[in-house]
Amino acid sequence: MASYDVIVIGSGPGGYVAAIRAAQLGLKTACVEGRETLGGTCLNVGCIPSKALLHATHQLHEAEHNFAKMGLKGKSPSVDWDQMQTYKAETIEANTKGIEFLFKKNKIDWLKGWGSIPEAGKVKVGDETHEAKNIIVATGSDVATLKGVEIDEKIVVSSTGALSLGKIPKKMVVIGAGVIGLEMGSVYARLGTEVTVVEFLDGITPTMDAEVSKNFQKILQKQGLKFILGAAVQGVETTKTKAKVTYKLKKDDSEETLEADTVLVATGRKPVTEGLGLKELGVEITDRGFVKTDGHFKTSVDGIYAIGDATEGPMLAHKAEDEGMAAAEVIAGKAGHVNYNVIPSVIYTHPEVSAVGKTEEQLKEAGHAYKVGKFSFMGNGRAKANFAADGFVKILADKETDRILGAHIIGPMAGDLIHELCVAMEFGAAAEDVALTCHAHPTYSEAVREAALACGDGPIHM
Ligand code: FAD
Ligand code: NAI
Repeated sequence: MASYDVIVIGSGPGGYVAAIRAAQLGLKTACVEGRETLGGTCLNVGCIPSKALLHATHQLHEAEHNFAKMGLKGKSPSVDWDQMQTYKAETIEANTKGIEFLFKKNKIDWLKGWGSIPEAGKVKVGDETHEAKNIIVATGSDVATLKGVEIDEKIVVSSTGALSLGKIPKKMVVIGAGVIGLEMGSVYARLGTEVTVVEFLDGITPTMDAEVSKNFQKILQKQGLKFILGAAVQGVETTKTKAKVTYKLKKDDSEETLEADTVLVATGRKPVTEGLGLKELGVEITDRGFVKTDGHFKTSVDGIYAIGDATEGPMLAHKAEDEGMAAAEVIAGKAGHVNYNVIPSVIYTHPEVSAVGKTEEQLKEAGHAYKVGKFSFMGNGRAKANFAADGFVKILADKETDRILGAHIIGPMAGDLIHELCVAMEFGAAAEDVALTCHAHPTYSEAVREAALACGDGPIHM
């Protein structure tokens, strides 16, 4: 039995970051992980592999649609699916090995196996029980199942199966027009699959600013994705090679069916909080299975903390990372803090979609007087040159004070562009502060400045 200042259970972006920060702060730290490799959902079956496939298929799209226009003539590349899978696997390995290296560098013990908490201050892994002054639960999330739909990871797949299909399907039905459905749907649409997305609500990506969401849907439709909205999936029947999806249209209760080679279930994820002994110890769990915390990562039991997807809030890797860092700092007696008002979200389709802060709908509902500064990428020279002029930057600022309340971008590199506005919001900046900042030309970032100018006397290039 070993004794630690901190044992982290789970090595996803929440857990591994918490472990590294704890070790950096001089705490003797171990991290328990049951998977064969470190890095959690994000590195193994989430962010990283999905972005590898998005990157590869975007290159294909560019070659097929834009190369000839730039005078780059020749045959479009053919797809070697096995090699694309190898590229994805190598990307995962490089990243998970990187965490292993960081653990060694920071003298963090990896306790291999599934952990549980038999009593406060103790963590059991296999037959061994270790002592820990502090325990951080970072057990993440797993695919949520859907009534009437059995995931076999062959014909009916979760995101995990969708990342590793044996072959590129001819027809795919995606259930759920959320982030996973649209990212993975884009991957396969670019590879030539006929993709139909069935969504329960009347719009795609329901938590997004409605104007962005409508625009996004139009752009995806142009790329070949089909949408059936306001449709409740009733069930999926499978044969050895095919599936039949039955759904009911909410508007008239009519029942319809769709045939597919692959069905991707992408209707959300659920926290992993069972089997750890949390309830038995008196750790409060919400009705939806999340570990309850006091807003500073402490659970209802002294010495037990929780972070990441296992707790409430957006299920995002960077939210988990920030909480991991802050929780370690709180344990070390420092003032660890996460500003939940400034957590960006990004969808890595093409164009990318990003957001931070309030949507227009939220401001309207709160009765907050606001102004809108918008700038289309059509007015951005760099975007036009790069065939990336679809989309816009939209900044929402307080009507009186000009303080930035939210920002929404659909367009090239939107996932990177949003951070300028995150920093501005962290500093409590006004749109005018961004508008007065010199932006290099020709960059996509100029569109952000123009949107900020549009909050005041108006943009120049529109
Ligand atoms: P996880 O990453 O889920 O890690 C938890 C770890 O704990 C797992 O490795 C698990 O094996 C381990 N564990 C669980 N129970 C135990 C136990 N009892 N003992 C030992 N180990 C245990 N987010 C983004 O921000 N950007 C993206 O681009 C993005 N893309 C995604 C794409 C897909 C396909 C998916 C599925 C998710 C994506 N996400 C993305 C979400 C992101 O992966 C999660 O928000 C993030 O991984 C949460 O981190 P975590 O540390 O809380 O948990
Ligand atoms: P999601 O919550 O983003 O979307 C689920 C969608 O399914 C919603 O639009 C919802 O209305 C719909 N839905 C729910 N039940 C349905 C039903 N019965 N029939 C039809 N539609 C139904 O969940 P998703 O896409 O599974 O992603 C899970 C989590 O992973 C998200 O919280 C997300 O934050 C995270 N993630 C983040 C990524 C990123 O940051 N780029 C990429 C992928 C995942």
